[in-house]
Amino acid sequence: MAKVLVIGSGGREHAIAWAFSKSLEVEKVFVAPGNPGMEDVAELININVNDFDALISFVKTNDIDLTFVGPEDPLVNGIVDKFEEEGLKIFGPKANAAILEGSKAFSKEMMKKYGIPTAKYETFTDFEKAKAYLEKQEMPIVLKADGLAAGKGVIIAQNLEDALTNARLMMVEGKFNGAGNTLVIEEYLEGEEFSLLAFVKDENVFPMQIAQDHKRAYDNDKGENTGGMGAYTPVTHIPESAINEALEKVMKPMAKAMVCESRNYQGILYGGMMLTKNGVKTIEFNCRFGDPETEVILQALCGDFYKICQDVLDGKKPEYSFDDNTYLGVVMASTNYPASSTKGALIENINESSPCIFHMGTAKKEGKYYTNGGRVLFVSGKGKNIQEAYDRAYRSVKKIKSDSLFYRSDIGFKAMRG
Ligand code: AMP
Ligand code: GLY
Repeated sequence: MAKVLVIGSGGREHAIAWAFSKSLEVEKVFVAPGNPGMEDVAELININVNDFDALISFVKTNDIDLTFVGPEDPLVNGIVDKFEEEGLKIFGPKANAAILEGSKAFSKEMMKKYGIPTAKYETFTDFEKAKAYLEKQEMPIVLKADGLAAGKGVIIAQNLEDALTNARLMMVEGKFNGAGNTLVIEEYLEGEEFSLLAFVKDENVFPMQIAQDHKRAYDNDKGENTGGMGAYTPVTHIPESAINEALEKVMKPMAKAMVCESRNYQGILYGGMMLTKNGVKTIEFNCRFGDPETEVILQALCGDFYKICQDVLDGKKPEYSFDDNTYLGVVMASTNYPASSTKGALIENINESSPCIFHMGTAKKEGKYYTNGGRVLFVSGKGKNIQEAYDRAYRSVKKIKSDSLFYRSDIGFKAMRG
């Protein structure tokens, strides 16, 4: 029987730890650093996700068979390279492949070089040049910080003034901690978004069922971009032909392109797609599971998650399928997220034993749960269709009591509209 370590602390990692805990081959799951909501499926280990030496030492001392990395930060910082140098088994891309998420400029260059459909763009490091370019473009236009910014580094500017203000904030005034010193400016795409995730090993791409996230903070896609405010799977109003197009024209070519560049990819590849009137275009690549998409996708996944991961790493075709249910989940976030987050506000009536609640950012004191971050809880419902999943998820959401949480009330609205 195997021991597994999951790295990370959010709802995604709770779902990953839960999936491993159901495996018939897994005896014990650890999470570093995790959060107290995961204690029902894993033991928490108080080590930071970027403290590679301490993580390696834990893995060696405790005979961990497989380490699974949840978030992008340690991947971009080279955790997989470090573990492999020590001969330890770890699931995720090396730094030279994780850069597909770590640098939007790199990812756009790769798409251009290999003819992978995406929005037209230019990259800038000089504000005056960016300004001159923006003055000649049609609005709206999209500004993207090159580096990691927790899903918040994208601004959709409706007019030139807005675009120039934000370009200055990102390039000159260091908004997003310098991630925007290099700025990608790209064409605004209109259409319907979906997330296509796949297990990837070199050129082999094994897709999962698609999901749809809700990036904006408020109902009807109003407000700032967030890490994601809710998700559901499957997304039945996106035609099978569009999913195939995304697989054949985006995901498989990118996996192949990475091999051509000697940056062989291994791990989860996340493709953010836009179905436009001119076909599917890539919005972004991420080098790991999406959050909150994972919380619904892993509920729908049928198969032994540990065995799937081992097979992918060993270059074998993993065995899995997806069930016939719809899963829909609502993020309950701290008031004022994404601008700020709260810590220490009481949350009551969380059903601790339910596998339908994943903890994104909670703390626990004397048996009670408190907010501890921006996104706090992922509350999901399962149904035979989107309406039933929606009703069940929101019934649970309404039972949870807290003065410091808000949520969108329209998760799944595009599917219900058809
Ligand atoms: P990203 O971090 O690149 O996924 O961008 C965050 C969100 O911004 C996406 O999920 C889209 O909703 C939106 N977005 C990004 N790029 C574009 C684009 N070129 N056109 C329209 N919306 C975009
Ligand atoms: N849900 C979007 C992301 O994980 O980047």
